[in-house]
Amino acid sequence: MTLSKMRTAILISGRGSNMMSIVEAAREADYPAEIVTVISNRPDAPGLAWAKAAGIPALGLDHKAYESRELFDSHLDNVLNATRIELVVCAGFMRIMTAAFVERWRDRMVNIHPSLLPSFKGLHTHQRALDAGVKIAGCSVHLVRPEMDDGPILAQAAVPVLEGDTAETLAARVLVAEHTIYPYTVANYIRNFATGSSEKVIVNHNVNQDAVLYSPALLKPGTGVV
Ligand code: GRF
Repeated sequence: MTLSKMRTAILISGRGSNMMSIVEAAREADYPAEIVTVISNRPDAPGLAWAKAAGIPALGLDHKAYESRELFDSHLDNVLNATRIELVVCAGFMRIMTAAFVERWRDRMVNIHPSLLPSFKGLHTHQRALDAGVKIAGCSVHLVRPEMDDGPILAQAAVPVLEGDTAETLAARVLVAEHTIYPYTVANYIRNFATGSSEKVIVNHNVNQDAVLYSPALLKPGTGVV
């Protein structure tokens, strides 16, 4: 039986390591998404060159060449429609989208943000988490809504903050979790998830019910003594 795969575009702006993790996952025969194209608003994005070399149609759409955000978004929309895209995956796409574009792709566009949303939306996420002294950081995959880094949360991964962390070391630790959770969640969204009317995602598959991440770790596990 031929599996019908969801025609998926990945939007990037730079390095594209999350894009790579999804492209790699999508090479599996039973992965439910086909990566039809990778699009970057920065034509010199390293991730775009990687996608090309991997044999994926890759397109640079330089946002600076458009007079307005509306014109850029409408061109992007045309490109996505011309390639019959069904799902848009934002992976480090550093560009604010117009509400009209976001609404056109409502529930068909996902994003990953390197924090436990709704904390630390926006830029300089890791530095702000460190400045706030949080002990657990992480990342979130969510459906895209017009507000930045807003929208129903599909999945999250928690990552401990370690003594002496810098924004760079914390980002690197969170990125490892991103590379696991994003391909996994995209697949699960296609297969299992549904959006509830309350703007909260209803999870239709296994959830860790008893796993707790203590940070700092309990010195005597099970006793509650820290
Ligand atoms: C990731 O940390 C992602 O969560 C954030 O931007 C970064 C992009 O990294 N939105 P990469 O381009 O996927 O390597």
